[in-house]
Amino acid sequence: MELNGKVAVITGTSKGIGYQAAIKLLEKNCKVYGLGRTKTEINHPLFQHLTCDVRNESEVEDCFKTILEKEQCIHILINNAGLGYFGNLETMPSEQWHEMFDTNIHGMFYCIKQVLPSMKANTYGHIINIASTAALEGMPQVSAYCATKWAVKGLSESLFRELRDFRIKVTCVYPGSTKTDFFRNSPGIKPHDYMLMPEDIALGLVQALEMPDNFHTVNWEIRPLQPKGPKN
Ligand SMILES: NC(=O)c1ccc[n+]([C@@H]2O[C@H](COP(=O)([O-])OP(=O)(O)OC[C@H]3O[C@@H](n4cnc5c(N)ncnc54)[C@H](OP(=O)(O)O)[C@@H]3O)[C@@H](O)[C@H]2O)c1
Repeated sequence: MELNGKVAVITGTSKGIGYQAAIKLLEKNCKVYGLGRTKTEINHPLFQHLTCDVRNESEVEDCFKTILEKEQCIHILINNAGLGYFGNLETMPSEQWHEMFDTNIHGMFYCIKQVLPSMKANTYGHIINIASTAALEGMPQVSAYCATKWAVKGLSESLFRELRDFRIKVTCVYPGSTKTDFFRNSPGIKPHDYMLMPEDIALGLVQALEMPDNFHTVNWEIRPLQPKGPKN
């Protein structure tokens, strides 16, 4: 896709991967709508923040209504908003379980539902869902978060097959540990410089979006090469 002039919606642009994705798409001259609870520092003529908790379907609907009143169509949706609580399952408060499912998977469903009519009408679009390597393997103390991200994988792979003949791409991205604020709820893990960098993930997202129309990255696993640093 030629990105110049395209309309993109990204969820969770206040920080981390979503923030960096917005910056990179603005550099490519995309019009970017950032959906999130917190306003970002991004101040750019092609950027607009829309306040939205992705767990709330009517707030999501209102945001997309606002966007589609201004734009003929949305070309790109990056479902990025998400969070993780780690710990033994039996001590996990049910509120945390529900918060993760409501944000990581239900919010994604609400956003996808909103973009599909215009993408189908245009027979064009690219949806990128941010999963995690936690969608590819089970991990102790990460079972609830893994469950949400395995759901993202299932949703994405099915939707890719459902939408390919509408010329709509669905890409599921599986980043490994990335140096962001994500680990604030995981006391045992401190972000460090051998993790992936959010700007590097964002660069990869742009590359996936820029591939030719008949080239489709379905699943994309990204890991830091040496997560514990160079071996002596
Ligand atoms: N960092 C990692 O190691 C890693 C690895 C694999 C996958 N991921 C995934 O990558 C995505 C981005 O994470 P990150 O690392 O960039 O974390 P982050 O720095 O904590 O950013 C998360 C973003 O999601 C937004 N968000 C959270 N809950 C939301 C809600 N209910 N409604 C709207 N926005 C919401 C946050 O904004 P507000 O809180 O301000 O609303 C923030 O902008 C997540 O889906 C995460 O699961 C992260």
